[in-house]
Amino acid sequence: MNRPIRFTFKKMLEKEGYTVFTAANFAEVKEHIQGHEFDAVISDILIPGTNGLDILKTIKENSADVPVIMITGDPNIFTAAEALRQGAYDYLSKPVNRQKLLQVTAKAVEKKWLTNERKRLAEENKAYQKNLEGKVRERTQELEELNFFINNIIESIPSIIITLDLEGCITMLSANALSLLGRQNKSEVIGKTYQYIFPQKLARDIDKIIQEKDWNISHECQLENGATIGYNVSLLLRNQQEVTGKVLVMRDISEKKKLENELIQSEKLATLGLLAGKIGHEMGNPLFGILGYAELPESKYPQEEDLKHIVKQALQLKKMTRDLLTFSKPKPPQIASIDINSILKETIKFLKEITGQIKYHEVIVEYSPCLPPVMGDEEQLKQVFMNLLINASQAMKGPPEQDTLKVTTALDQQEKKILVCIEDSGCGISPEDIDRIFSPFYTTKGEKGTGLGMTVVKEIISKHQGHIFVESRLGQGTKVRISLTVQQQQ
Ligand SMILES: Nc1ncnc2c1ncn2[C@@H]1O[C@H](COP(=O)(O)OP(=O)(O)OP(=O)(O)O)[C@@H](O)[C@H]1O
Ligand SMILES: [Mg+2]
Repeated sequence: MNRPIRFTFKKMLEKEGYTVFTAANFAEVKEHIQGHEFDAVISDILIPGTNGLDILKTIKENSADVPVIMITGDPNIFTAAEALRQGAYDYLSKPVNRQKLLQVTAKAVEKKWLTNERKRLAEENKAYQKNLEGKVRERTQELEELNFFINNIIESIPSIIITLDLEGCITMLSANALSLLGRQNKSEVIGKTYQYIFPQKLARDIDKIIQEKDWNISHECQLENGATIGYNVSLLLRNQQEVTGKVLVMRDISEKKKLENELIQSEKLATLGLLAGKIGHEMGNPLFGILGYAELPESKYPQEEDLKHIVKQALQLKKMTRDLLTFSKPKPPQIASIDINSILKETIKFLKEITGQIKYHEVIVEYSPCLPPVMGDEEQLKQVFMNLLINASQAMKGPPEQDTLKVTTALDQQEKKILVCIEDSGCGISPEDIDRIFSPFYTTKGEKGTGLGMTVVKEIISKHQGHIFVESRLGQGTKVRISLTVQQQQ
């Protein structure tokens, strides 16, 4: 544009507060734009020394964001459109009045300001994001280390740790919890409700603890598999206030329990030993007399039921005395070669025909035909079978046709052992009680039982270096298996 117009535009714009630089030709334009950041450029499309579109290109190369307003004398639509295509912000056709000039300039300056602002914010945002990423990385590492540390502690202590959320779903567990739960992988249990995952008895006990809010109190639970678990349930708190779940800390205390029981048992046995000696001694002689006096008339008057009862009761007392005497200073066992089948036959006959302690029951017997002899005390082994058969018979209270008492003998060739099995279809024993049946004085028969029968059985069998195993299901019956070592060939 020519000088007067440049001057007029400069005046008009400066009056509005803009700082204005003018250039008369392309060389001056280049000089100005070097190292300057303009908010807007207003240029004639025809400028001495070059084409207006070249100016636009040069300015854009130097600073892509600056809005360039082109002024065209001849409103040649083609040139204007070309200018816009090449990045011009707008164009003004001559003659340009003040209002139009100010309006377009203001818009262009505002656009530049907005572009600058957007850039600044983008940069700020980028820096902030970078900073944030750094902080997140740092915290993640800290958390990973903490997590590793906590996991290490959890996996190193022998206690089993399990956490539950508010709904009772398992959220975390130590590796040693898996064997308690009978699982292989944590993924099998995480997210599942403890009632479905825990052994039934433990789940029931924990339900109760949660209902009764028995937090932080030590509990014990004997599981279905016989193991004993010591545990407590605590609340899981966030900021020591908000309850977010529960934490269970458990320990397998089976071994400790076993030792405790053995201690109690041996203390009981020691007391029993003293007592037994005294009672056995005091009762032995009068009992011998009663039996002698009663058996004589009984054989004379076999139809007299009362006499039979006297003999039966006296024999029961004799058995009890004998049980007690096993604990007092025991007489040395009379070791001899014994045929197990025949002492079983004799014992069953005795209990059916003499004492009547096996009533109604049809005894199914399956004796192995080729049992080698065992070395043992005949009287004591008879006592073992008698106690077991009486227990089996007493456990069966159903109609006679439904009761089965089965006695089998077998030979384990490989192990060189004789196996005796006495099986009944009686009331059975619950898993919690099965270990207690060998404890002295443990009985569920009230006044009718002394609770010594099984204690005596165990004592005699272990003296014979044998083993006893009891399997039972409540309401279905009991199987007692005894193994005795076969007599070595001389
Ligand atoms: N075959 C069985 N079926 C069911 N319960 C049994 C059986 N054998 C033993 N028990 C349980 O074990 C307990 C202890 O048995 P044990 O023989 O030691 O004493 P008892 O039979 O009660 O009395 P006793 O000293 O007169 O024999 C019994 O009271 C009973 O509860
Ligand atoms: Mg008994």
